[in-house]
Amino acid sequence: MTHVAIIMDGNGRWATARGRPREFGHRQGAESVRHVVEAAPDLGIGTVTLYAFSSDNWHRPAAEVTVLMKLFRRYLKSETAELVRNGVRLRVVGRRDRLDQQLVRAIERSEEATSGGTRLLLRLAVDYSARDLLVEAVRRAATAPDVERNSLANLLGQAMHGGGPAPDVDLLIRTGGEQRLSDFLLWECAYAELYFTPVMWPDFGAAELAEAVREFRSRHRRYGRVAVAS
Ligand code: FPP
Repeated sequence: MTHVAIIMDGNGRWATARGRPREFGHRQGAESVRHVVEAAPDLGIGTVTLYAFSSDNWHRPAAEVTVLMKLFRRYLKSETAELVRNGVRLRVVGRRDRLDQQLVRAIERSEEATSGGTRLLLRLAVDYSARDLLVEAVRRAATAPDVERNSLANLLGQAMHGGGPAPDVDLLIRTGGEQRLSDFLLWECAYAELYFTPVMWPDFGAAELAEAVREFRSRHRRYGRVAVAS
């Protein structure tokens, strides 16, 4: 099953272009999350990882951080039942110790309620930094001198609350026109296909996801080997 990771960029610009506050863009962005989660299983996607809040996002104005945190809590509260109905299992990856306790409780409740889902694994990256997690995994590895790729992937999985080893990304999508990774899933994207689109996240929905997946399926992944004639 395909693992798609998405850097959801462009909420602020989308709102500003409409003469609205950035918050409006984030709220619309939450709608896009709903559409993408709904569309993913039928596109052969087994795991979706969404970059909801990077550790560097703490440096945004406090009011915007508050809006985003409220949106995450509201999403968990309003969507959990729907996730359960749709067979979606939710995991939140990243640090939890700097999150509001109410949000942490909402995350735990939602993870527990959706734990039986088998159609789609939805991973929300909140207070996430790939570099910080790699540092944490390497710290844990210091007591395991025979560490190799698989065990480091396991330690990385443990460091991010993900449960199980950090899963390789097949397709990384970034919306909003920028073309960079911004400290997202650096280990897991070693052989990911990269897909950049100028579409702003609030305008990204089922059709845009289908187009990204269609293009991904047309690519030849070689993992450093030579192409095999078919
Ligand atoms: C990037 O757009 C987006 C974010 C930092 C937050 C992502 C959050 C959402 C999509 C809202 C809801 C999410 C969930 C999971 C319910 P930006 O603000 O950096 O846009 P800009 O580059 O145009 O300023």
